[in-house]
Amino acid sequence: MIIANWKMNGSKDLIKQWMDFVSQNIEINPSKTCIFCPPTCYIDFSRNLIKQCSKDIKLGSQQLDFESSLPLTGGTNSKMLEDLGCDFVIIGHSEQRIYLNESNKILSNKLIKAIDMNLKPIFCVGESLQQKKASKTKDILTDQLSAIPSNLVNECIIAYEPVWAIGTGENAEISYIKEIHSFIKESLKNKINSANYISVVYGGSVNLENYKEIYSSNKVDGLLIGGASLDSDTFTKIYNMS
Ligand code: PGA
Repeated sequence: MIIANWKMNGSKDLIKQWMDFVSQNIEINPSKTCIFCPPTCYIDFSRNLIKQCSKDIKLGSQQLDFESSLPLTGGTNSKMLEDLGCDFVIIGHSEQRIYLNESNKILSNKLIKAIDMNLKPIFCVGESLQQKKASKTKDILTDQLSAIPSNLVNECIIAYEPVWAIGTGENAEISYIKEIHSFIKESLKNKINSANYISVVYGGSVNLENYKEIYSSNKVDGLLIGGASLDSDTFTKIYNMS
């Protein structure tokens, strides 16, 4: 699966231009899901464009609030996302963990709420540079993965995004990515004592130069692309050629 995470970027005009180009040039392969995650305020606008171009581009939300029934000004709950036509939702992105102080308890709640509404969570995990340097990566990932309730492990897609690689142009070495993806897959299998397949996608400065090598590993089930996905030509090339 190839995921475009637009973060807090774009406008109606830019999304329209992107969608026009992508829908005309992308060669959708049903075994490689294409997911577009615009800012929340443009989800409905994007859904209408996808309908018009009748390409099988799935919609994902970049956020979800942890409670459905609180009188929460500014909140977006999972029922709303389902109503807007989302199939996926990004949960636990490092930017939200950092700026919004999201704890494991909050993230567990979000996972439960998403899955209740048949939204597939893309659950992000990853270590900071300081944690990597202190050889704490696996401990940090183990703690982050513990937010997933055991009975929901099979419902989640995991995105491994080393924090030090996000938006920095510094992507992880392929051997490191393989090692960490294997670790995540094994940890989750052990947690639920099951041999079910667990998809782990990679994110962090994926671009036209490095996507091929990263995606060629059998431990990498997809790419979560931020900055480079804003460019319709780059995103289409990465999708078509991966
Ligand atoms: P990046 O972002 O590709 O710009 O590093 C990835 C992400 O944060 O999802």
